[in-house]
Amino acid sequence: MFSRTAFRLHDASKAIRGFSVAAQNQQKVAVLGAAGGIGQPMSLLMKQHTAISHLALYDIVNTPGVVADISHICTPAKVTSHQGPDDLQSALEGCAAVVIPAGVPRKPGMTRDDLFNTNASIVQTLSEACAKFCPKAIICIISNPVNSTVPIASEVFKKAGVYDPARILGVTTLDIVRANTFVAEAKAIEPKKVSVKKVLTYAARMILFVFKTSPKTSFTDEETEKLTDRIQNAGTEVVNAKAGSGSATLSMAYAGTKFISSVLAALNGQKNMVECAFIKSDVCDTGYFASPVELGPNGVETNLGIGKLSAYETKKLEEVIPELKKNIKKGEDFVLGK
Ligand SMILES: NC(=O)c1ccc[n+]([C@@H]2O[C@H](COP(=O)([O-])OP(=O)(O)OC[C@H]3O[C@@H](n4cnc5c(N)ncnc54)[C@H](O)[C@@H]3O)[C@@H](O)[C@H]2O)c1
Repeated sequence: MFSRTAFRLHDASKAIRGFSVAAQNQQKVAVLGAAGGIGQPMSLLMKQHTAISHLALYDIVNTPGVVADISHICTPAKVTSHQGPDDLQSALEGCAAVVIPAGVPRKPGMTRDDLFNTNASIVQTLSEACAKFCPKAIICIISNPVNSTVPIASEVFKKAGVYDPARILGVTTLDIVRANTFVAEAKAIEPKKVSVKKVLTYAARMILFVFKTSPKTSFTDEETEKLTDRIQNAGTEVVNAKAGSGSATLSMAYAGTKFISSVLAALNGQKNMVECAFIKSDVCDTGYFASPVELGPNGVETNLGIGKLSAYETKKLEEVIPELKKNIKKGEDFVLGK
C-alpha cells in the first residue's frame, strides 16, 4: 500500500504543476474568503486552472477589487464577484467544489484552537449556505482549527439533511507540501522526486509524520525527530516570521490549489488521485482522522487508512488521540448547541 500511495501523491502533484487536468469537464468553483491572505493568491492560481470554467470569489469585504484585478488575466476561466451574505447564493449555485479559507489566522503565541471562537461561527454560516445552495459540491475546508471546522460543517450538513461524509474534506495538503520540501532539503533530493507517504492527523501536536519516501531513503531516529519537529512547527515558523501580520498564505495557496486540482481531476474521472485529507473516518476511534484518500467523482472514494504502524508511530498516535477527540467534540457541540 505504501508504494502505491506514494506514486499517487506524486502523480497528483504533477497535475498542479501544469494547472491542467486531462479529460476536461470544466467546473464552477467558489472560494469563500477570497479577499484574504490565502484567498487572493489561491484565486490567482485557480484562475490559471484549465479545469475551472467559472471562479466565484466571495468575501465579506474587498471582493470587487480582487475580482477586477484577477479577471484581467488572459486565461479562459470567468471570474465573478460576490460580497456579503446576500451574494452567497449566486456564488454557490452550480458549484462542483467550494474552497473555504475564510476566517482569522494565527498571531504569534496563538494555537490553532485559539481561533475557534471566531472561525467556528464563520464556518457554520458558510456551511449552512453550502448545504442550501450546493449540497452536492465537494467542500474543501482550510479555515482553522481544521480538526473542529470539519466536524462543524458535517453537523451543519446533517442538520440540513444533505450530509455525505465523502464530500466534506479538511485540507491538510500543506503538511505534505512542507514534508516533501524539508525531506528533499535534508536528503539533498530534488523536491519533485520526493513523496512523503503519510501525514496523519493534523495541526501542531496532532501531526504524525512517517518518512518513507520515493526514491527510498532512510532516516535515523534523530533525523525523524528533527524533521517531525520542523514540520509540526512549520506553521508557527511562518507565523513568527510574519511577526503578527498573519500565517502561511502563499504556501497554503499552492497547497490548496494542488488539492482542488486533484478534486477536479477526480470529478473528471481521472484515476489515482490521492491526497491527504481530514475526513469522517473509522481508522481510529476518533470519528474523524487525516489520512491519504483516493478521490473520485463523488469526493472520497477510498480511505487508504494508516496501514501498519511501527512502535514509534503507535506511541505518537496514542499521544495525539485525546486532544484530537476534544477538538472534534468541540466542533460538534458548537453546532448542536451543547
Ligand atoms: N489548513 C491549513 O493548512 C491552513 C494553513 C494556513 C492557514 N489556515 C487558516 O486559513 C484561514 C485564513 O487565513 P488567511 O491568512 O487567509 O486569513 P486572512 O485574515 O488574511 O483572510 C481571511 C479572509 O476571510 C474573510 N472572512 C471573514 N469572515 C468571513 C465570512 N463570514 N465569510 C466570508 N469571508 C470571511 C476575511 O474578510 C478575509 O478576507 C485561517 O483560519 C488560517 O488559520 C489554514
